[in-house]
Amino acid sequence: MTRLAATATAPANFALSKYWGKRDAALREPSVPSLSVCVEGLTATATVRFHREPGPDRCTLQGRPADARTLARVRRVLDAVRSRSTGLGFAEVRSESDFPVAAGLASSAAGLAAVAGAAWCAAGLASDSLDAMALVARLGSGSACRSIHGGFVAWEPGPHGSRVYPVAPPEHWPLELCIVQVSGTPKEVGSTEGMEHALRTSPMWEAWLRQAPEDFAAIARAVSEKDFAALTALAEANCLLMHATTITARPAVFYLNPTSLEVLDAVLRIRRGGLFCFFTMDAGPNVKVFCPPGLGDDLADALRAELGEAVLIRRSRVGGGLRLLRGDP
Ligand code: PMV
Repeated sequence: MTRLAATATAPANFALSKYWGKRDAALREPSVPSLSVCVEGLTATATVRFHREPGPDRCTLQGRPADARTLARVRRVLDAVRSRSTGLGFAEVRSESDFPVAAGLASSAAGLAAVAGAAWCAAGLASDSLDAMALVARLGSGSACRSIHGGFVAWEPGPHGSRVYPVAPPEHWPLELCIVQVSGTPKEVGSTEGMEHALRTSPMWEAWLRQAPEDFAAIARAVSEKDFAALTALAEANCLLMHATTITARPAVFYLNPTSLEVLDAVLRIRRGGLFCFFTMDAGPNVKVFCPPGLGDDLADALRAELGEAVLIRRSRVGGGLRLLRGDP
């Protein structure tokens, strides 16, 4: 049954093995496999209402009209849903997230996953077809496809299109993390732009394409075996190789800033002091620091002791995926 309106929430996800590079830009098909975790406490909520008549889609983000770029991403998701249903005209979309947008905290992943889930349900499509929903979310923002299934999620390129699948539920290994918020302002170079620039101009690009699938397989193994030491070495190396592709692009793009580097240095000192932890960073200056279950408080204390009050530290842990809140008949 077509419901026409629905609301969904979706979490941010952070990659342990990064998606960086598109094999097909229009379809947002990845060049390399990636593996991420959905996290608690960084959530986007979207309401989608379809109308029967045709017209331009409308979208607000945090209560303000979305810019043209965001609207185009949302429209790709809506078009994919409309193509799977009949009689759906324009849509009104409202999306809110409880954390800064476009600052390397995976807000677009959470937001577009929530929009995809809400649109899917509003169109009356089967609410348990998470794999298909994930592939629609991907059309808005690649990494959004990993915010639909919860816990540890993989996204792999394949000969007939990419595949998104859950690797393990949150209970398998409830890793904790501290998000060190170095900046809450939008980044200057978006991830699509950054990866395309690196692909075109970085001499490190070939190395990245060779190494990333190997890292992915080893990271999937470390997750399955709950091998924190292996995950530490692999996730940090994979993240730094991704950043190396933009630092060596011509001209260089730096997502990390001097404060991010201080945080990375602090993580290494904390680890040398005996507390198991590792860092990862995405296309922005904020740093995510993971630790084994039960050590989150110790890690937050250690980071505060190292970094003082100049940075904001948010606690989180591995969590679930998309939740459909409401589907108005
Ligand atoms: O989903 P996009 O197009 O914003 O790309 C995100 C890419 C990274 O966050 C940098 C890495 C990842 O796998 O999430």
